[in-house]
Amino acid sequence: MSGRVAFVTGAARGIGAAVALRLAREGVAVAVADREDASGIAESIEESGGRALVLRVDVSDPDAATCAVDRAAEWGGGLDFACNNAGVPGIRAEVADYPDDVFWRVQRVNLGGVFACLRAELRHMLAAGGAVVNTASGAAFAGVPSSSAYVASKHAIAGLTKTAAVEYAARGIRVNAVAPGLVRTRLVEGLADESFVAAHPAGRPAEPEEVAEAVWWLLNAPFVTGVVLPVDGGLLARVPGLS
Ligand SMILES: NC(=O)c1ccc[n+]([C@@H]2O[C@H](COP(=O)([O-])OP(=O)(O)OC[C@H]3O[C@@H](n4cnc5c(N)ncnc54)[C@H](O)[C@@H]3O)[C@@H](O)[C@H]2O)c1
Repeated sequence: MSGRVAFVTGAARGIGAAVALRLAREGVAVAVADREDASGIAESIEESGGRALVLRVDVSDPDAATCAVDRAAEWGGGLDFACNNAGVPGIRAEVADYPDDVFWRVQRVNLGGVFACLRAELRHMLAAGGAVVNTASGAAFAGVPSSSAYVASKHAIAGLTKTAAVEYAARGIRVNAVAPGLVRTRLVEGLADESFVAAHPAGRPAEPEEVAEAVWWLLNAPFVTGVVLPVDGGLLARVPGLS
């Protein structure tokens, strides 16, 4: 993988950090993009002999997101891999009570961020091909009470992923998504109650590294494109009501 270059968003912590470290372990140079400081992850990569570029960016700003992808490609001399992963949960409220500003903020970060980054990445990958993995969620497949903004954004990411996949399949670019169940990160602190954990047949949340493993596989799986892959310990496979 030496010489390969990746762009990862939401890379300061959680799943994005695990993806960046997984890619670096394979010798991929990684641009770590986040609205927060991702230099800790970059230092870990460099301490292990890898290459990293820190990009401070709010992906909900389309110009800034485009600029960040362009800088990563310029730094690396091209772009082979991308993981559009930055996301926010929104608040917990039923639809009738859900505030406009929060609803659209969640769309701008989760969907708008993936869209702006994906568009810029595709423009670079057209030169030599590439692979993208977007971070969707189990909430891309089903409703979750009191989480309408988040669920709507993740359903939309699944649709965007499939559409880009069919548009670019013949041009050497694959676009897939991971759909994690519960993952032990800051995003779900306070949201992950016992019954949610118990709904996972695996009986526990995933570690971020387990999602990163699936991202790595999708980035390298030839002929796999347009897939939204559950990484959820069996959550979506379970027949409702059966223990
Ligand atoms: N943790 C879970 O259980 C779970 C389940 C399914 C899907 N996901 C998805 O995984 C992705 C990563 O979440 P996580 O669990 O690692 O959460 P996290 O909160 O630990 O990390 C999210 C990262 O994204 C960054 N970020 C947020 N908004 C941003 C913005 N506007 N611009 C740039 N960076 C921004 C944050 O600074 C943070 O570093 C999200 O898309 C989330 O929806 C998480």
